[in-house]
Amino acid sequence: TVVVLDFGGQYNQLIARRVRECGVYCEVKPYTTPLEQLKAMEPIGFIFTGGPNSVYEEGAPKADPAIFTLGVPVLGICYGCQYMAHTLGGQVTEAQEDTAREYGKTETYYDTSCKIFRGLPERGISWMSHGDYMAKVPTGFALVAHSDACPNVAIADEQRGFYGVQYHPEVNHTEHGVDMIRNFLYEVCGAVGDWSMGDYKKTAIQAIREKVGDGKVLLALSGGVDSSVAAALLAEAVGSQLTCVFVDHGLMRKNEGDEVEAAFSRWDINFVRVDAEARFLLKLAGEAEPERKRKIIGEEFIRVFEEEAKKIGRVDYLVQGTIYPDVIESGAGDAAVIKSHHNVGGLPDYVDFKEIIEPLRLLFKDEVRQLGRELGLPEYLVMRQPFPGPGLAIRVIGDLTKEKLDTLREADAIYREEIAAAGEDKNINQYFAVLTNTRSVGVMGDGRTYDYTLALRAVTTSDFMTADWARIPYDVLDRISTRIVNEVKGINRIVYDITSKPPATIEWE
Ligand code: XMP
Repeated sequence: TVVVLDFGGQYNQLIARRVRECGVYCEVKPYTTPLEQLKAMEPIGFIFTGGPNSVYEEGAPKADPAIFTLGVPVLGICYGCQYMAHTLGGQVTEAQEDTAREYGKTETYYDTSCKIFRGLPERGISWMSHGDYMAKVPTGFALVAHSDACPNVAIADEQRGFYGVQYHPEVNHTEHGVDMIRNFLYEVCGAVGDWSMGDYKKTAIQAIREKVGDGKVLLALSGGVDSSVAAALLAEAVGSQLTCVFVDHGLMRKNEGDEVEAAFSRWDINFVRVDAEARFLLKLAGEAEPERKRKIIGEEFIRVFEEEAKKIGRVDYLVQGTIYPDVIESGAGDAAVIKSHHNVGGLPDYVDFKEIIEPLRLLFKDEVRQLGRELGLPEYLVMRQPFPGPGLAIRVIGDLTKEKLDTLREADAIYREEIAAAGEDKNINQYFAVLTNTRSVGVMGDGRTYDYTLALRAVTTSDFMTADWARIPYDVLDRISTRIVNEVKGINRIVYDITSKPPATIEWE
């Protein structure tokens, strides 16, 4: 185990992710963790994270200094580096304007005879974010990297296996940052890099079993990747003690509800699928304004879930599929309505339970997908693209009817089928059809038609905050268009959305 000791920086989970990418198991622990507890983890290395404080300030976070006497290598990053220097007899001061207060991309020069830089280029960009300066480096340490402004960007005591870097090797902006972390893990700590998501699964299941005991567990399944993987993990861990409530609001894509149900049929859990389509449509009837539609759906979702929870009675644990990016910022991705509700108000007050379990809290999206595969979830579920909690309700523009939803479902299914068949799904991050509220004149056979216009949307994006429209080949668009107007009643015209975000958003509502 490598222990990432958390001093409160913003990239701390990212460090953990990098370590795991190197095939090394690690856990993030608060800096206040007692030494005995850390020792019991039998760490082969420590990584001290960055943090917002200055180490010379009153009340700055400090770990037990005896940590440096354990004979275990340490890599200190930013604050972690300064904490190490400060504790081992160096001196850290506030940087003056002309001495090494650095933010952002910085040209850095490395001593490649140092173990953590071995085999890497002698210069490269590193990502700095510090206002403090190591005026005096502790005895035994050598300077192993510098920038134009700062002579001691990295320090090393190779004898004791102590390394400190002022920059952030864990962020993508630092060239070869992951290689430096890997060097620390393999060359300094002697890690072999054979840890995998399969191991994570075993550890997580073990931890859940210990925590839950013979308690009862409740989970709201949205059908998205996160809640499905969380459900599968809990199903594997505590099986029959788990109740999954799957609120089918009738706003899902074609076959989606059945697919979700089928995916969970292999576990002996209490799976409750609530067919709430009629209820939702009734509540939504005549409502055309997007935000009010969202609000109605969110509220109704809670109400249905609440009713089901009441039938079950007291549970001990409520599971949420919160993943690491939700922890930093909520909003993007397939955050289900129930989740954003929970996230906003803290603990939900409508279910009687003891504690919340968030088994995916430390995982990034691609790790969640990998875990889903390990748990035997089907690929179509694991690879599902983001789908908004309000579902197709915000993809039928204006007021909803069951007919419009069914029309959209059919068209959307053809769209997805053809995109996948053309292999374009690998180049596109999110794509879907929108039933516009516009009807236009067409001609079919010998007759005049007056039917709906369907819009196709497809975007490439890494964070869903900004996006570009995908350049789908014309012949693929042509096939999609031809099939939809021929096969779906009520649509006689197809348009392709060629706006980026901003100024447009990804969804139309
Ligand atoms: P926009 O349309 O804002 O969408 O560019 C960005 C991402 O968020 C998804 N989205 C939602 N997800 N509830 C959700 O859970 C919502 O109300 C919602 N609105 C948009 C959208 O699909 C895209 O991935």
